[in-house]
Amino acid sequence: KVTNLAPTPPMGWNSWNTFQTNINEQLLRNMVDVYVSSGMKDAGYRYFTLDDGWMSMERDQNGQLVADPKKFPSGMKAFADYVHSKGLKFGIYNCAGDKTCAGYPGTRGHEYEDARLYASWGVDLLKYDWCNTDSLNAREAYITMARALQATGRPILFSLCEWGNHQPWLWADGVGEMYRATGDITANFDKDKHMGTWTALSVLTIVDKQPAIRQYNGPNHWNDADMLEVGNGMSYGEDKAHFTMWCMLAAPLVAGNDLRKMSAQTRGILTDKEAIAINQDAMGVAAYRISGNADGVEIWIKPLSNKNWAICFLNRSAQPQTVDYNWTKNALHDAQTKQDADFTKTTYKLHSLWDKKDIGTTKKAFKQTIPAHDVVLLTLKQS
Ligand code: GLA
Repeated sequence: KVTNLAPTPPMGWNSWNTFQTNINEQLLRNMVDVYVSSGMKDAGYRYFTLDDGWMSMERDQNGQLVADPKKFPSGMKAFADYVHSKGLKFGIYNCAGDKTCAGYPGTRGHEYEDARLYASWGVDLLKYDWCNTDSLNAREAYITMARALQATGRPILFSLCEWGNHQPWLWADGVGEMYRATGDITANFDKDKHMGTWTALSVLTIVDKQPAIRQYNGPNHWNDADMLEVGNGMSYGEDKAHFTMWCMLAAPLVAGNDLRKMSAQTRGILTDKEAIAINQDAMGVAAYRISGNADGVEIWIKPLSNKNWAICFLNRSAQPQTVDYNWTKNALHDAQTKQDADFTKTTYKLHSLWDKKDIGTTKKAFKQTIPAHDVVLLTLKQS
């Protein structure tokens, strides 16, 4: 399934992080309206995805999936039409196993009929999960579903969600446009949450998994660092750091907050045009970590088009930290793109993205104190 549906990281909203299976037509129609009125659509978000919990507990007598008639009295086609009427794209969820993670009917053995049903509704994205798969071969299962989607003739973005158990970075290119490589995120900056048999991952745990698989990330096969938790309970600085890192990593930006209730600060983060431009940069390369140090400040670099760069100082520690960065002593070299910056030869203009100010050039060392669990994000443009 080779497509060009995601030349840059997909952007959207997904129901799971806030609502889990407590979704219904009225709630979601309101969410669609706010998606547009809040500026999310204008900022570039396009997909509106229903995660687990949209179905009835059983297939019908013909073996077809049915939208839960209590949650979706007008049916799924009508809901998809509503999403499309607002100029958005419609995403839906199912699972490669016998049942979804929340226990609804899975797609195993029904790949082609389910794909046809989605296409008839006008589905534009399928998130395909990995619960209750027994001995299924992951690569084969995802290829089967990719072929089923392709056979419908409708372009449907395929979002793989098998949590990295079978190294999807090695085979997802050409199967789906994005793939999860980690377990589920939780709205905590630096502490994983142990939930009996599984562990929900903190922002930093997910970030730490990225360097090893950076090289496999790129247009139409994005590493999905999971849906955003911006606006779901972390501090403003933590939300900003989380969003910044997803932009730096060229990860899909899938908001997971209640858009109806988002604060001005949350909206400011999610719709920041400059941060999104870093995420959506046409070169499509993920950031790399050039250093971590004892005080907990890491430096991440993302090569951008036109030989520009983004640089993020990530303060992982629970204390404010002061960075003092001498450009001319620190040439940049990205082995993957072969992009270089030699600050003794070329001067770059610096823009501090969240502070919204120009702060001089790379001729002068950069010095700033970063609050706990926060970032400073700079763009470097050749002057
Ligand atoms: C898994 C996925 C989540 C979500 C739930 C739904 O845990 O990783 O993103 O889709 O299933 O049950």
